[in-house]
Order: sequence, then structure tokens, then C-alpha cells
Amino acid sequence: MTQVPSSPTRAPHPLDSLTTEEIAAAAALVKSDARFDDQARFAYVGLAEPSKPSVTSFASGDPVQRDVRMVMTTGPHARVVEVVASLSDRCLRSVTEIDDVRPNLLFEEALAAMTALTTDVAWNAAMARRGITDPAQVQIDPWPAGNFASPHEDGRRICRCLPYLRDTPDGNGYARPIEGVVAFVDMARGQVLEVLDTGVVPLPPESGSYYPESQPALRQDLRTLEIVQPEGPSFTVEGNLVRWQHWSLRATLDAIEGLVLHQIGYEDQGRLRPVLYRASVSEMVVPYGDPGPVHGWKNAFDAGEWGLGRMANSLELGCDCLGEIRYLDGVLATEQGKSYVVKNAVCLHEEDYGILWRHHDGRSGRTEVRRSRRLVVSSIATVGNYDYGFYWYFYLDGTIGFEVKLTGVLSTMAVAPGQDPRFASMVAPQLAAPYHQHLFNVRLDMDVDGTTNSIYEMEARPLPLGVDNPWSNAFESCATLLRTETEAQRVADPACSRHWKVVSSTAKNRLGRPTAYKLLPGPTPTLLASAHSSVGRRAAFATKNLWVTPYDPGERRAAGEYPNQHRGGDGLPEWTSKNRAIVDEDLVLWYTFGVTHIPRPEDWPVMPVEYAGFLLVPTGFFDRNPALDLPPPGHCHT
Ligand code: CO
Repeated sequence: MTQVPSSPTRAPHPLDSLTTEEIAAAAALVKSDARFDDQARFAYVGLAEPSKPSVTSFASGDPVQRDVRMVMTTGPHARVVEVVASLSDRCLRSVTEIDDVRPNLLFEEALAAMTALTTDVAWNAAMARRGITDPAQVQIDPWPAGNFASPHEDGRRICRCLPYLRDTPDGNGYARPIEGVVAFVDMARGQVLEVLDTGVVPLPPESGSYYPESQPALRQDLRTLEIVQPEGPSFTVEGNLVRWQHWSLRATLDAIEGLVLHQIGYEDQGRLRPVLYRASVSEMVVPYGDPGPVHGWKNAFDAGEWGLGRMANSLELGCDCLGEIRYLDGVLATEQGKSYVVKNAVCLHEEDYGILWRHHDGRSGRTEVRRSRRLVVSSIATVGNYDYGFYWYFYLDGTIGFEVKLTGVLSTMAVAPGQDPRFASMVAPQLAAPYHQHLFNVRLDMDVDGTTNSIYEMEARPLPLGVDNPWSNAFESCATLLRTETEAQRVADPACSRHWKVVSSTAKNRLGRPTAYKLLPGPTPTLLASAHSSVGRRAAFATKNLWVTPYDPGERRAAGEYPNQHRGGDGLPEWTSKNRAIVDEDLVLWYTFGVTHIPRPEDWPVMPVEYAGFLLVPTGFFDRNPALDLPPPGHCHT
């Protein structure tokens, strides 16, 4: 069963997904404006979210104002035009030109770059030097070019292109990197600017196929495993509003951020207690650690440069999720301003998650067990060679989890026979994968029992030997109030169990303490490139695990709105330079986590999933274990 996003005539809510009709109406308003001609392209189209107070105070039946935010290009220049269209008033509410920035890379222009290379003399000569004469066999991957003060970058929207040999339609290009060749292309003009050839390296010999027909044999002993829920799932879906086991939330798909959750709350004795107003991946970066001319510039901001929603997959029943599935569609716009639907972009299902709590009382012989179950809200984006699954988890005990599942195909390089690269792992004969990181920044607009919150850094600290610690065993739980944006730029420290606790300024539990949620880190690498490097300036968010800002609706993306070819410094470093106060404020947490990926041979030819994420755990939010009311499992076999 597929859920269609609710239309404004059916169930209007200010956070309803844009409909195909609304996108068409917004695009028509732009196209009928004299400032936009046939060259104008829609780099981004999304809901201009109404103000937070108007959403939190919204009651069903209230009038809904619908505004659409668009980022336009109007020619091949380094300039965008930001437009807000009012659908209610049928006008362009604002039109703002911004110079010296680039939008996310456009698919149309990526195709233009590939086409330009296919007929380029220097490019084809480089291919011919490697014995490749059929341009149709060359897979060209356009990459965001970064910012390296190359003259090619000035005033242009460019990409750097890497070639791979794909001599069969089902071939794995990343098995056969055409090493030593990289091209700069003005993608907006379809113009090749430079083809760099650092010398021929032989093609790796193996095909690297992961298709079943290529495997010597498939396992025969894996028996059917089915998830059966004869009574249906325990959640309900109404428009984009999802309710499950006291939880409620809204799920939508944004072109850039991908899966976005709003108004996450927990119903407690008839009262909906807010936890998070909005949660999304605000940015991510994949910096590579090989300093050579062909790979040293590689770093991808897959949200801001490509768009996690634009790259979202249509999910398949029984493959991507298992069990009783419900889907939400994504509604996006093409660069020509036409709406389209990404069917089944967001998957909703329940998963058994082992035991939630248990005790065997040895005296009475009585055992009590409760099963843990979680609601999973997920989407998967494929960005070039990589696939990223984004999974929000909601548990029966009030815990929220977020997990990225990293899979897909490694970015590779060819290595001459007998060579052993210093900044890459060998994964197959003559094939290596450069070391790299995947660093995600999640923006968490916290509303723990109300809009006004404070944040403490929590550490477990041992006491020195003394009269109050005669056995040298004592340790304390220390809370440090983070008072300003500067104080709240923090890195993880697992040795002292460092984590961060967001407390309500207004609500208290039965022990008289503020109700709270804690952010519990998982894998927490920070950026290994220098903060002064090109990628370090552009991905400053990744130099810390935690940033905290007072809520500002204009501060949405950790590296700024336009990271593509940006010189850096935008986003979090810019905003937090004001060093605003964050005590008893509406707080936004910006949390960086991820993976430092030293590739393994087992990651080839396709990567088993690697996991990275974090938890938001109630800590004094409830008065006791909130899952005592779970019924015992229905059928325990002895
Ligand atoms: Co990786």
C-alpha cells in the first residue's frame, strides 16, 4: 500500500509535502516572470517552511499559508537567484540575486559535461594512449570540483571528471579506473577547460562483478525467513503524520537533506510532550586522504552538492525493508520546473529488536521478559558509487536512534603491478581504494518538553585519593553547563563517557530534576584534513562533533546553503562567530559523526554495510522505566 502525500484540499497541515500541483503552480509563477527566461533552471524546489511558532500553535482547520522556496540559475554564471513564491497570494514574495555562489550540481549540466568530453580531442587522445578507442565504453563520473584557487573555477560552474572502462553494459566501472586522467569541464557551458594526463597506468585485470550470475555458485542452504504481522503494523499513517506506540512525527523528503522529520513527540498520559521539532542530515562530506593530483582534490558534499533527496531511491517491498511496510512518496521538481514523484521514497516498518528488559528471579523462579521493537523510518540515497541508507529508529522505552548504513562501491584507483600505495588499500589485483572519511552532520532542533532548553556536557570523572575517597574507587558524574556557542564546540571523549544532556527549562520529573534527553555518541571521527586545508575550510562542521546554536530559521545547513565550489567559512563557523548565549534558549544541536574508511579487501567489489549513528536517550524525561506496561510476549516456547 502506498500513501499519497495529502493534498491541501484533503488534510491541510503547514508541513504537508508539496504536491505536484503546488510545484507546477510555483514553477508557473516563476516562468511567467520577466526576470526568468528559457535559460532559467530550478536547482532546488521545496516547501518554504512556515515559522516554528505558527506550526506549533497550528490547530486542525486553521488556514494554511503555502510558500515554495526555489533556487534558480539564470545562465552559466556563478550566481543564483533565490525565490519564494506564495501559492496563497499567487505571487513571487521575494526574488534575491546572490553572486559568487553555485547551486547544487545540475543533472542536465553533468550530462553536458560528459557529452563535451566524449567528443573532446585531448580527452580521446588520453583514452587512445591507453588503448581505449570506443568512447561509448568510457564511464565518465562528474565530481564536484571543490575550491583550489584554480583559474578554471573563477566565475564558472565546473566539475572534474574521472573516467572508468565499462566494456559491457553490466560492467563495474570502478573495477577498471582509467588512471591518470582528470578533466576540468565548465558544465554550465558544456566546455572542456583542461584534460590532465599524469601518465598511463595499466588497467586492473578483473571485472569486479557483484551480480549473482557472475558468482561461481550461490548458497543453497539459506531457508525462508518471513516477517508476518497478520494484524497489520502497529503504526498509523495519515498524510505524512506517523503515530506509533506513544510516538508521533511527520516525515517528508527534501531535495537536499533527504529524509526530514518534524514534530517528534511522545504522548504521555494524554499529553503530547515535544522532544524534537525538526531532525535531518544538514550536510555530509567525504574527503579523500590521497594527496596525488588525480585524487587529492576529491571531497564530496553529497547533500549540498548533489542532494540526498534528489538521489533518493524508490524502495522495493521485501528487499530494502522487510515485513508490513508502508511507504511515503517524495514529490520533487526537475531542473525544468516539472514535478515528479519518487514512489516509495520513505519506508515505514517495525522491527523486532531483541529484548527490551528482562529479569529472572532466582528465589521465585519467575522470569519476566519484554521484547524490544522499533519503528523504522528510512530512505536510501545513491550518490555515484556510494549508497547511503538513513534510518531513524523509535523505541518502546522513549529512545530515538539514528543510523547511516554505508554501502555501495568504493571509489578506486589503478596501481601499477608491484606497487604498494601509501594512502590507499589494495582491494583487488592492481586495484586500490584511497583512504577517506564519511562525515555526517545532523541538525537536531531540540524541543525537550518545550522550546526553551539548556545543554550540559556530562563526564564521569574519578576522584583523587583522599579522605572522601579512601579506596580510590570513587567517580562522579560531572555536569558542565555550556553557556555560549564557543563553549559548545566540543569533541567526543569515550574514555570519560562524555555525552551531552539537553534539559527542559520548564518541566521537572517527580524527583524534582529537569526532564532531559541525552545525546549518546557512537562512532565519532572528526576531519583528518587540516582545518586550514581547502576541505577543512569548507567542512568546518566536521572539525567538531558538537555545535550548539540558538534557533534561527535561516540557519539550516552546516556548511552553508551553497557549499559547491565555496571558498569556505560559511555555515556553522560564520554563525557561531557571534558567540550567542545558549542557556534557556531554543537550542539547535549540530552533531557530526561518521566513519574513517580504511578500505578492506572484503569491501570489494561491493561493500557490506558499515554502520554509524548515535542515540537520543531519555534521562529523567520519564519518572521510571516507561515500558513496564508492555504485555508479556504472547507465545514463549519452552
Ligand atoms: Co567509504
